[in-house]
Amino acid sequence: MRFGNSLILVTGGYGFIGSNFIRYIFENTDFKGKILNVDKLNYAANPMNLIDIEKKNKERYFFEKADISDKEQVGRILEKYKPELIVNFAAETHVDRAIHFPEDFIKSNISGTFTLLEASRKILSKNNNFRFHHISTDEVYGSLKKEEFATEEYPYKPSNPYSASKASSNTIAYSYFKTFSMDITISNSSNNFGPFQFPEKFIPVVIMNLVNKTKIPVYGKGLNQRTWIYVEDNCDAIWKIVNFSKKGETYNVGSKNILTNIDLVKTICNIWDNKFGGKNSFDLIEFVKDRPGHDLRYALNTKKIENDLDWREKNAFEKSLENTIKWYVNNKKWIESITSGKYKDWIKRNYTNR
Ligand code: NAD
Ligand code: TYD
Repeated sequence: MRFGNSLILVTGGYGFIGSNFIRYIFENTDFKGKILNVDKLNYAANPMNLIDIEKKNKERYFFEKADISDKEQVGRILEKYKPELIVNFAAETHVDRAIHFPEDFIKSNISGTFTLLEASRKILSKNNNFRFHHISTDEVYGSLKKEEFATEEYPYKPSNPYSASKASSNTIAYSYFKTFSMDITISNSSNNFGPFQFPEKFIPVVIMNLVNKTKIPVYGKGLNQRTWIYVEDNCDAIWKIVNFSKKGETYNVGSKNILTNIDLVKTICNIWDNKFGGKNSFDLIEFVKDRPGHDLRYALNTKKIENDLDWREKNAFEKSLENTIKWYVNNKKWIESITSGKYKDWIKRNYTNR
């Protein structure tokens, strides 16, 4: 394992996938090294996500509050810690927010990735073992046709400021491989779900509305298709890529769980009614105004990661949905901490007409 004893810098490590990734490395692998989490602590970050990990790994887990688009802060941190691997999760991530505040996305996702890459080139790339892994999304390929699956060779056709910022940062990262021969890898994953996901994304929105017995907003006619992957499976794929992939490679990370939004909601409602004491939950479904520029279908061809790295999705879809529901039901304190204050005000200001 190439980075089994290294100091790894994880950006965005207090967000949903970043915190699951740090937890995954400490709990599910033979990793013996250290992890530095760099996060600017935006609305979606929650230090509660890693409290237990922090306590158990005092000598091996560190945190620095910093913005990856701040050249001075990034330079200082890279000089101080000299990580051998950077896994760049830090980003603004919600498409609905990108419609209201595109500038935040350009700054963190494009300038942030550039700043981190440029500082890595100057400060870290002399180390022959240094690698930069950039985390990205299936949304870069844009909306696909019925039955179409994007391979890694597909052209980027992003439709909204979020996916455009991710497509842009992917190409900047790749240019550092081509131009400067840096060791860069990229993963484009489909929609993740699981514990610690901020309740603005669809699956936690559905679960929270079931818990609170409030209407479940489904955009348009609910016919848009997304591919859903349990976050642990994505973490497993990322760990495989960083340790075993050649440099300059991009990998799609997806699953077989491709559903229309309405079918997904019905699946969750059925689990809720059958296993969590819910009743007639379908009645809570409400079709609301569609999202502008709403992509119809995201789906990935994942043959490359299966063939090159022998990666497979391990977690069954419905069982993972059930685990996720259970997690939200059992973690009310976490939900209170993340849905109070600033975020509630923001929702009130921007979503009152939904
Ligand atoms: P998230 O919004 O839950 O967390 C993002 C984290 O990044 C937060 O902790 C935030 O504080 C931090 N951050 C944002 N801007 C920063 C900056 N400028 N400097 C430092 N920290 C900053 O997001 P997530 O769902 O965990 O997504 C993580 C990554 O995975 C993103 O790059 C996203 O594009 C990608 N991705 C997410 C999904 C998904 O379904 N959630 C799917 C594919 C790809
Ligand atoms: P989301 O979780 O925001 O992820 P993304 O837009 O990055 O795919 O949304 C997933 C799908 O669910 C998307 O097609 C939009 C839809 N959606 C709703 O129908 N209602 C909602 O309240 C939300 C948040 C999303």
